[in-house]
Amino acid sequence: MSQRDVIIACDFDSAETTLAFLDKFTDCKPFVKIGMELYYAAGPAIVKEIKARGHKIFLDLKLHDIPNTVKKSMAVLSRMDVDMCNLHAAGTIEMMKAALEGLTREDGTRPLLIAVTQLTSTSEERMQKDLLINASINDTIVHYAKNAQEAGLDGVVCSPLEAGMVKEACGAGFVTVTPGVRFADGEVGDQVRVTTPARAKEIGTDYIVVGRPITKAEDPVAAYKRCVAEFVG
Ligand code: C5P
Repeated sequence: MSQRDVIIACDFDSAETTLAFLDKFTDCKPFVKIGMELYYAAGPAIVKEIKARGHKIFLDLKLHDIPNTVKKSMAVLSRMDVDMCNLHAAGTIEMMKAALEGLTREDGTRPLLIAVTQLTSTSEERMQKDLLINASINDTIVHYAKNAQEAGLDGVVCSPLEAGMVKEACGAGFVTVTPGVRFADGEVGDQVRVTTPARAKEIGTDYIVVGRPITKAEDPVAAYKRCVAEFVG
């Protein structure tokens, strides 16, 4: 089910900026991530437009609500014909099962469904103090990944440095989608637990999500192709 690929995080605040960025890619159609910023700014229309241009789409809206609401919302997202969606594993196994039901189309097909375990911006200390989770962050991530697997989901979003641990617990076929990727000679910015595309490949993650190293590059197409060369090979 999994196929190694580079997903570009299109963290822009308008359809115009996003489409101008994608216009630069004249000889390839990268897998694109649409997050909350762009979706809230440009709505379903930008999803349809990018899909019509032939890109695969990861709709990163991180749903977290009661099972019935998530199920119905996932049915709406599924009709947009995206390739990957996500939710928070913290919503419980029941919520994740409901999401899967909502996402599955009448013909039995559906986008990949991926769970966020603990956000990479959450430290172990904050998780224990603010969320009152009395366990290590690694144990929590593995536990949430196993819950996602039990609910029938395809994989999790995690740091590339956690992908090996998740694969060990859930099996090689359980998909890992990993942001926090930087070129060895690039700027880290606000990301903390980062690794290079080449190292992410060695660890065995399935998809890397890369934003600023591509979107802010002087030549975004060259930066994207460098990522693909290092990660997909
Ligand atoms: O610019 P950069 O490469 O840091 O972008 C990473 C993308 O992955 C952003 O869209 C960010 O919101 C997303 N992300 C993340 N860490 C997570 C989940 C999503 O960086 N745990």
